[in-house]
Amino acid sequence: MAEHDWEKTDAFRNTEIPYWLLLAVSAAFVAAAWFFYSNRHAAGHGGPAFVVKPQYYDISPARTLKKRLETEGMACGDCHDPSAGPSSSDPRVAPEVHSKVVLKHGPNNRCFNCHNNAKRDFFAEDGGGQIPYLKVETLCRKCHGTTYRDWTSGTHGRRNGYWNKAAGEQKQLPCIACHDPHSPAFKPMLAAPAPRKYTAPGVKH
Ligand code: HEC
Ligand code: HEC
Ligand code: HEC
Ligand code: HEC
Repeated sequence: MAEHDWEKTDAFRNTEIPYWLLLAVSAAFVAAAWFFYSNRHAAGHGGPAFVVKPQYYDISPARTLKKRLETEGMACGDCHDPSAGPSSSDPRVAPEVHSKVVLKHGPNNRCFNCHNNAKRDFFAEDGGGQIPYLKVETLCRKCHGTTYRDWTSGTHGRRNGYWNKAAGEQKQLPCIACHDPHSPAFKPMLAAPAPRKYTAPGVKH
């Protein structure tokens, strides 16, 4: 076996490292340190702050409530004179004058299931009774007893304001602040995006 010629292999053994090279390497380290230091709060450390769009924390209800049962600013009784007596028809489709009303309430498809025929300013309680506008939940309760119970206890239809009633008012919205009574189903809604997850510096996901 021939002796290994170390003098030839270890060619750099006696080479002197040039002064400029040392300087360049130190300068590169200082530059890198500054780069990482100045970037310590920027992208890579979780990125910019996550911004939730205002639509996701808007607490205003889906519908605007009125103070009374009215159409185009007129009370029902202005045209439907109670002294004229109840109408003989109980339509499923609104007449021309009320054509904006489109009934899509499943098998609940007659106007006088909900509107008092003899006194149009009121809703229809069973047995001809009258339900005032501001008690509309009593109307819905006739057929949605379970939902009404849940709403009363606060598990259906959100509560606004304070949990602790001593700290401030607790507000409950009536059914028609959210549901259009003539077409009560909600269109599918888009859920708010999940919060952005933390990304450790330098880790790719
Ligand atoms: C500007 C006048 C006017 C107002 C205000 C008005 N209506 Fe009518 N309504 C009419 C007319 C006209 C008819 C058609 C009557 C007919 O075909 O015999 C009608 C028909 C109806 C019908 C169909 C049954 C029927 O009587 O023929 C219902 C239900 C009804 N109105 C409910 C209401 C309710 C509830 C209000 C209040 C939110 C209201 N109306 C307000 C003019 C009015
Ligand atoms: C599920 C119960 C229900 C049924 C069925 C129903 N209504 Fe109504 N209607 C209501 C309620 C509750 C309001 C009040 C809505 C509000 O002020 O936000 C109302 C409001 C109205 C108004 C005034 C608001 C507007 O949009 O002008 C008219 C007119 C009206 N209804 C006519 C009718 C007619 C005509 C029918 C039959 C085709 C009918 N409704 C069937 C519950 C009902
Ligand atoms: C006379 C009975 C009756 C009254 C009064 C009534 N509803 Fe209904 N409601 C029904 C029926 C029947 C259905 C259809 C149930 C089904 O198809 O499974 C329904 C369905 C609904 C739905 C579900 C719609 C869907 O497709 O997901 C909502 C929401 C609703 N009603 C809200 C209300 C509100 C709010 C009121 C009061 C303004 C009200 N209802 C008054 C009978 C009634
Ligand atoms: C703060 C808004 C709000 C209020 C107030 C509210 N609801 Fe609802 N309701 C909803 C939403 C949102 C849904 C779910 C819709 C979906 O899943 O598509 C719903 C669903 C329903 C359904 C369908 C069946 C179910 O339980 O999923 C019925 C019936 C109903 N509500 C009736 C009522 C009645 C009656 C009242 C009043 C006593 C009421 N709601 C009050 C928002 C509300």
